[in-house]
Amino acid sequence: MENELINIKNNAVSLILDSNDPKDLEEIKLQFLGRSGKLTLAMKELPKIDPDKRKEVGILANEVKETIENTLKDKEQQLKHVNIKTKIEKIDVTNPGIRPPLGHLHLITQAILEITDIFERIGFTRVRYPEVEWDWYSFGALNFPENHPARDDWETFFIDEEPNKKFGPMLLTPHTSSGQIREMRNVVESASGGEIPPIKMLNIAKCYRRQSDVSHTLMFHQFETLAIAEKVSITDLKGVLDYFAKAYFGPDRKTRIRPYHFEFTEPSFEVDISCGMCNGQGCKLCKEGWLEMGGAGMVHPNVLKNAGLDPNKYTGFASGWGVERVLMMKEGIEIDDLRLLYSNKLEFLEQF
Ligand code: PHE
Repeated sequence: MENELINIKNNAVSLILDSNDPKDLEEIKLQFLGRSGKLTLAMKELPKIDPDKRKEVGILANEVKETIENTLKDKEQQLKHVNIKTKIEKIDVTNPGIRPPLGHLHLITQAILEITDIFERIGFTRVRYPEVEWDWYSFGALNFPENHPARDDWETFFIDEEPNKKFGPMLLTPHTSSGQIREMRNVVESASGGEIPPIKMLNIAKCYRRQSDVSHTLMFHQFETLAIAEKVSITDLKGVLDYFAKAYFGPDRKTRIRPYHFEFTEPSFEVDISCGMCNGQGCKLCKEGWLEMGGAGMVHPNVLKNAGLDPNKYTGFASGWGVERVLMMKEGIEIDDLRLLYSNKLEFLEQF
């Protein structure tokens, strides 16, 4: 019996040490320790042994079992390491990796970057001014008389804050024209009585009005130009807007200006662009071949004065258009409901 146990041990240990595969180890385990394994069967014979020898043989049998189990465990560990090692060795670090999915800029950000790029090419500089603003910058300095109905027309969000003694109530900017005053005053202040350098401002910012339907959102974006120097004329205004329309919509598009009224420009215009659908012939989409773009005009002398500039020396033009509006008019972009832009629906945003 002792010899048999020793044989089983030697046999098992050499099989275990020779194996190179975890699957083989499973089999060896079954072969020796399983329900009808060699060692299990041998141990079943123990009761038959001479009682005075039984204890000794029993101890030996347990030692054999332990040795087999420990050898199995060690070999399993060893094979695991080898596996990891060979796997690591197989990694080719020069292979291109798996790219994590990257998002992209929001459609409006893309439009803002494109608009900025177009105006920068002709010397305009993008600026940012507060979107939480005082009444004076948004209305007062822009020549809106006190209690003028136009002030209501903007349907502005006013903020519950003690009005400023000089600048009036606090509000969310209803248009980017407040940037005109901020820009001119900045330039005047830093010139401190010296020469005023020409101004070519592009102010792109969020605007807020009490409106929400398929073509309006409470928050939207405008881009505002302001050009001030000696002898800036309507021709300059027309040239810049025409350049923008061709750069943004395509070289075949034409622009025209129509008389209009804004408090802060004189004369004031609405700018139209020839319809891209019918090439200015007139179709369902447009008004007799033209699409309305937005406002523009020559900066009102009172506005120049309010900003600290001499209207006898300086003239300038300004324009203010909607980013969402021009974007929706661009070919290939069809958005039925403007509110989708701000809904954070990835199915929608991922299309662009
Ligand atoms: N602020 C005007 C608007 O929101 C647009 C405008 C800007 C008109 C500059 C003239 C000059 O409609």
